[in-house]
Amino acid sequence: MMMKRLIFLLILSPFASPFVNADEDFISHYEYGQMLYSYPRGVSCTECHGETGEGKVIAEFRDIHGKEQITGPDIRNKTLDEMIQALNGYHDIMPRYYLTDEEIKAIHDFLKEKTKRRNSGRK
Ligand code: HEC
Repeated sequence: MMMKRLIFLLILSPFASPFVNADEDFISHYEYGQMLYSYPRGVSCTECHGETGEGKVIAEFRDIHGKEQITGPDIRNKTLDEMIQALNGYHDIMPRYYLTDEEIKAIHDFLKEKTKRRNSGRK
């Protein structure tokens, strides 16, 4: 019984940590956006757009044209409208997500704030 509960907590803990660490009663808009960016009910955005939306190489291969790359684009400067449009559409590589406009706004705001903090030398 005790063991079962412990395992349950261990499984939950990576997802629950933003809730546990928050000083406030509820997680902040920034933390909410960070959580959604990492766990958007599907493949994590970080896998293809990097930790802060800076973009990254997803795959490298060689074909008749030589060395080729598949990259996730830099999305730090996307407007909210552009993000909503991108996330509600179908793409070749990027999966389809089912996030609400509010959730997309949280991700958008997180990326903007993260970039600002990084540029000013904060975490
Ligand atoms: C499997 C890799 C992958 C994942 C996961 C992924 N993306 Fe993408 N994303 C791409 C690629 C590649 C493109 C360029 C369009 C295409 O070819 O799919 C793109 C395009 C975009 C664009 C539009 C960029 C532009 O130039 O207009 C936005 C915004 C975006 N992604 C945000 C997100 C967010 C937010 C998440 C998480 C909810 C996410 N993506 C998850 C690979 C990914």
